Amino acid sequence: MIKKVCIIGLGYVGLPLACLAARKGYEVTGLEINTKNVEQLKAGTCHIKDEFLQTEVRELQGILQVTADPATALPSADIIIICVPTPVNHKFLPDLEYVRSAGKSVAQHLRAGQIIVLESTVNPGTTEETLQPILEQSSLQAGKDFHLVHCPERIDPGNKKWNLSNIPRVLGSLTTEGAAAAKQFYASIVNADILILNGLKEAEATKIMENSFRDVNIAFMNEMAKSFDKAGIDVTEVIRGASTKPFAFLPHYPGCGVGGHCIPVDPYYLIEGAKKFHFEHKFLELARKINESMPEYTVSLLAEELNKIGKSVKGSQIGLYGVAYKKDVDDTRESPSLEIMRLLREKGATLFIYDPHAKHKNNVADFEEFLKHSDYLLIATNHAEFTGLELEKLKENDIKIIIDGRNCLDKEKIQQLGIVYKGIGR
Ligand SMILES: NC(=O)c1ccc[n+]([C@@H]2O[C@H](COP(=O)([O-])OP(=O)(O)OC[C@H]3O[C@@H](n4cnc5c(N)ncnc54)[C@H](O)[C@@H]3O)[C@@H](O)[C@H]2O)c1
Repeated sequence: MIKKVCIIGLGYVGLPLACLAARKGYEVTGLEINTKNVEQLKAGTCHIKDEFLQTEVRELQGILQVTADPATALPSADIIIICVPTPVNHKFLPDLEYVRSAGKSVAQHLRAGQIIVLESTVNPGTTEETLQPILEQSSLQAGKDFHLVHCPERIDPGNKKWNLSNIPRVLGSLTTEGAAAAKQFYASIVNADILILNGLKEAEATKIMENSFRDVNIAFMNEMAKSFDKAGIDVTEVIRGASTKPFAFLPHYPGCGVGGHCIPVDPYYLIEGAKKFHFEHKFLELARKINESMPEYTVSLLAEELNKIGKSVKGSQIGLYGVAYKKDVDDTRESPSLEIMRLLREKGATLFIYDPHAKHKNNVADFEEFLKHSDYLLIATNHAEFTGLELEKLKENDIKIIIDGRNCLDKEKIQQLGIVYKGIGR
């Protein structure tokens, strides 16, 4: 009978899970190494700028326990869920150091009967080949003395329709007993199907395949956008047309780049992992290459439009709207905006940066000042604030060119205002 839950890593994945389990009546302790975040959470404030999470943390103050001390969090837990980062290093190689260090903490306090779940996205084989040996340093045996499970997290921060509570889960385990125990726990907190797959590797591969699917499809659309741009075809109209087919077409959209902690990272786990079996993931490598080319492509669109009016990026007052990697979130990890920023600075632009959700990146006081200083705009994130803007305001502020890196604005209306508009393939 599961009563006590320990979540390791209280970030975008672990914190909502900890709150949900606490809401469902479990005694939840979050174990987090970032002591600043621990103090904030204890005080009922949340380090992630998400309205729902901020309310949850405030309302659950004193109910959801938070600590940086493994000895407080781990020994009494019935189920321990690891939600630590799995990034790539500067050579795009998987960095499993966080998984290893979380595993070592668990191993030091492991006791018989506990269920250990890895939720972090990992390459097929990681749970058994990397985590299991670390846990077994405790002298307890996985599958016999404790359960070992992988249940990849599939949340999509900012998505209003699909959230932790209603997204179906898949899981794999070393043993059928472990799978059943984990399924029982997840079924008690989420209101969605929970599918048990044949093994740990299948569960690990499911998550990586889902995100690679998205990366490949976005890359395909980026290629279409670049091609159609040369042919004078508006790719957004083509996608609109193709989307009317009720089967065999799933719309994906081109843009100035792919960011976040998942889609630009996870394919590299598979690319690297498959090398062990002498398999080359040509498709995934190409998709990564195309998507990584998009910030540069977007900057080149701006340079071209500036050249047409006898200007250059150098010395131009350029406003970069959006640093977060996607709409209405504060997460700037792997954001294409960071590369766009670097490229524009390298080319000598005078850059004004504004993001209402990631304010720590701003170099202007507010949106008004941002528009006032900018002559040309590059939109890297389609935050609702910007897409809901009265476009006349752009004209009032004498904006001359808009590069719409998210194809989120009304092209005709902007052109009617006498502003040059260029989207991605549009
Ligand atoms: N962010 C997403 O949208 C998302 C969605 C699905 C899956 N994932 C996957 O979930 C995992 C976590 O991602 P995230 O976005 O929540 O990362 P995050 O960086 O927001 O949070 C991870 C937290 O773990 C903490 N941490 C690291 N090592 C620790 C340790 N040894 N002990 C205790 N705490 C530790 C970090 O301080 C951090 O607060 C990754 O594998 C990611 O790929 C992320």
